[in-house]
Amino acid sequence: MNISKTLEKSTSSYKCNKCKDTTWIITINGARRCECYEMDYIKRLWENYGIKAEEVKKLNDYKPFDSLTTNLKHKASNYIIQFEEKYANSDENSFGILGQSGAGKSHVSISIGAALLNKNHKVVYMPYLEAMRELKANSMDDEYYNKLINRYKRTEVLVIDDLFKDKVKSGRLTGELTEADMKHIYPILNFRYANKLATIFSTECTLNQLLDLDEALGGRVLQMCGDNITEIVGREYNYRIRNIKKAQ
Ligand SMILES: Nc1ncnc2c1ncn2[C@@H]1O[C@H](COP(=O)(O)OP(=O)(O)OP(=O)(O)O)[C@@H](O)[C@H]1O
Ligand SMILES: [Mg+2]
Ligand SMILES: [Zn+2]
Repeated sequence: MNISKTLEKSTSSYKCNKCKDTTWIITINGARRCECYEMDYIKRLWENYGIKAEEVKKLNDYKPFDSLTTNLKHKASNYIIQFEEKYANSDENSFGILGQSGAGKSHVSISIGAALLNKNHKVVYMPYLEAMRELKANSMDDEYYNKLINRYKRTEVLVIDDLFKDKVKSGRLTGELTEADMKHIYPILNFRYANKLATIFSTECTLNQLLDLDEALGGRVLQMCGDNITEIVGREYNYRIRNIKKAQ
């Protein structure tokens, strides 16, 4: 048996061929961290929120059933395919899905995020309510707060799930954005807008409700999406109860 062959791991068994899973790249100028190091960290952040990026529902699992849902699926797949050439670093580089609960907004937005993550983009997942709670709870600890908020501000791609969730219920606005809300979400959205960083978001708000909450911020978020906005209105789009509806 060829001992050197058996001792040397075959190339294909490394998770990262660039650094052979050491996370370090040795160059003539010294050692530097391999890209896989940061990607692993980013994937762990998804797992901290209970999501395994490899295991999420795929865009392929989203079954369109009329022109609105077909359009949404098309937009999402084009966005993934054309991300590098068309969307990264453009003014209108974001993707928004608004409206009806149960319509697959989280499914589609998370599947876009996971697909971009698999293409090695740095994608951070931000479940709005949990993230806001965490930011608010840590606002007195400057160092930790900055670490948290910078994660959302600066990442190449941000997936915000259920934006403004605590302000809308059953299709109606139930509250206003408070000063405390704005203190945390405004710098994130504003920084991303100013730096042309892509944001994928889902929200139960309709277009008008988003503008009613805050015309300047809502307008900016919508502007960032260009044509990649889908508003879903109507209980018939609630996939969670489609079988009950069919049975009637
Ligand atoms: N067209 C579809 N094809 C396949 N599965 C779908 C479709 N639409 C929704 N689903 C599934 O229905 C469930 C509800 O979808 P999801 O959680 O994404 O809805 P949502 O719009 O985010 O709702 P909410 O506003 O309450 O968060 C999920 O399991 C999702 O995978
Ligand atoms: Mg959702
Ligand atoms: Zn590596």
